Amino acid sequence: MERLDAVNLRLPDDNTAPYDFKALLDAMIAIRDEGLIAGIGLSNTTRDRLLEAVHHTEIVCVQNALNLLNRDSLPILRECQELGIAFVPFFPLASAFGGVNHLLTHPTLTATAHRLRALPSQVALAWLLNLAPNVLLIPGTSSLPHLIDNTTTTRIHLDQEAQEALNTLTP
Ligand SMILES: NC(=O)c1ccc[n+]([C@@H]2O[C@H](COP(=O)([O-])OP(=O)(O)OC[C@H]3O[C@@H](n4cnc5c(N)ncnc54)[C@H](OP(=O)(O)O)[C@@H]3O)[C@@H](O)[C@H]2O)c1
Repeated sequence: MERLDAVNLRLPDDNTAPYDFKALLDAMIAIRDEGLIAGIGLSNTTRDRLLEAVHHTEIVCVQNALNLLNRDSLPILRECQELGIAFVPFFPLASAFGGVNHLLTHPTLTATAHRLRALPSQVALAWLLNLAPNVLLIPGTSSLPHLIDNTTTTRIHLDQEAQEALNTLTP
């Protein structure tokens, strides 16, 4: 490819060693000016970093962890919605790189999915899609059947009972 549509600047966690955010952003702007990428995204960003970045240049997407068990980035999703920036939740199915998936086996999720005649994975993804129109999903899978399940999530309608149950789901 001659040009990538969007590339994320993946930020370290805030408790790691200090880094020069402006220098990293300037490097991204330089490769966009060169035509190698069309849009700059931020990943693992705080709200302050996001606001600093949009003050400096156009940001097209934000990729932060967000799922039913980890809602820390909800305020950033809302900020993106206000700013017209796509929000791409990573770990949408709460993957923990193997082992038991504590989201897909959560009793509230499995009961809701059972009632809606859907799969827990579909209900978890539908909850994310329902949060805002700027949510873009990237569930990871190595399985063709799971890929089909995940791409049919848009057919799932979360009624009020489901919304209430999911909104109050705790780890
Ligand atoms: N920006 C960042 O720092 C960052 C960090 C982490 C991840 N990411 C990105 O986020 C995306 C998703 O991350 P992820 O794949 O680690 O986490 P994820 O989407 O939350 O979970 C993937 C896990 O869920 C399982 N799964 C997927 N669909 C399923 C289904 N329908 N039913 C049951 N299980 C299902 C997969 O197993 P199977 O393979 O068996 O389907 C896999 O174990 C990837 O594109 C990744 O690159 C970005």
